[in-house]
Amino acid sequence: MELTRWEERALRGDMGEALRLAMRAVVKVGEALGAERLVPITWAHVSGISYKNIGDAGLEFLEELAGRGARVSVKTTLNPAGMDMERWREMGVDEGFAEKQLRVIRALARMGVQATLTCTPYLYGRVEPGEHLAWAESNAVLYANSVLGARTNRDGGPLALFEAIAGRAPYAGLHTDEGRVARVVVDFAPAAERLRGLYQVAGYILGRIAGPRVAVAEGLPRPSAWEVKLFLAAVGASGGTGLVYLPGVTPEEPRVAGDAERVSVEPGDVEEVEAMFSGEFDAAVLGCPHLSREELVEVLRYLERRGGARRRLVLFTARAARDRSLEEWAGRLGVEVFYDTCMVVSPIVGRLGGRVAVDSAKAAYYLAAQGYSVRLMSRRQLLDYVAGGGD
Ligand code: F3S
Repeated sequence: MELTRWEERALRGDMGEALRLAMRAVVKVGEALGAERLVPITWAHVSGISYKNIGDAGLEFLEELAGRGARVSVKTTLNPAGMDMERWREMGVDEGFAEKQLRVIRALARMGVQATLTCTPYLYGRVEPGEHLAWAESNAVLYANSVLGARTNRDGGPLALFEAIAGRAPYAGLHTDEGRVARVVVDFAPAAERLRGLYQVAGYILGRIAGPRVAVAEGLPRPSAWEVKLFLAAVGASGGTGLVYLPGVTPEEPRVAGDAERVSVEPGDVEEVEAMFSGEFDAAVLGCPHLSREELVEVLRYLERRGGARRRLVLFTARAARDRSLEEWAGRLGVEVFYDTCMVVSPIVGRLGGRVAVDSAKAAYYLAAQGYSVRLMSRRQLLDYVAGGGD
């Protein structure tokens, strides 16, 4: 791999042990990917920082790295943690877990990472088309590539941290023009009627079809901002791809390989996904990916028109969207709001009795994998259930 003089010095350890370690990891991954060089990045987003997922081994790794003087060299933000950093007791989190989760965040903060604790970094910062990023949260990666026209691979959490320290990513995959060529075109037209209001199901189907391949989605009506989030999060749950060309949404013209596969989605495919997530439920959780401020307002407005929540509803959003008046409004309507975490990486669903309705296919997938009973529905159906109608 061709390295600049600065990169070579960093790799030799001339600028410290922590940078040497980070550069070595980035170069090794680059070699495995066949990258000819590295590319400077402007923003890294680190995932996998819930103590529930990384445990003591992850905590020790981060504290050791911070102890060796590691510092990020670009803007670096964080995915959700395993608890609301302030109201963790209300979530059913025990003291031991909370103490270790706080240590994880502290170690990252010592390295200069901003504790944004949200999986929607794209809502809280500007990204220009063509900008190179190192993001490690599948829904955010898909959003960056497919909606913002930025360039990032689907990096793992530790790699994104090393890239943040090195300020570089391997120039491979979705960073390159060739890596952004679509290899599969998915036509939703035959199932469009059946998919009305169910972008999350469409996304889940697309992810299964595409696997790691860049895809084009055809035959879907133009989604709203929050439907795009649900769609891409679902793609990230069922597939390994990091880019879907969505007509009318993606700023980049799709380049499609001459031998790209064409697949049509039928109504039966929709029913199959619905059947996968058709469990019993007696509470509802929303906010995967984290709700934007606009979505929060929309949800609360809808419930207000319906006279408030008659069934349990828990919302998840970013601390950057925090607002006392919204909190009080939610409280009056009987709705709980938590920050910094989500239904998948915190113990909230167990505390709710283990049977929940969701509007996110990504949440449905991961909660079902944790053994919970999950029902996937449209946002409208879910809110009607909460307001006292439906099941
Ligand atoms: Fe975000 Fe948690 Fe879903 S991290 S995308 S809300 S699983």
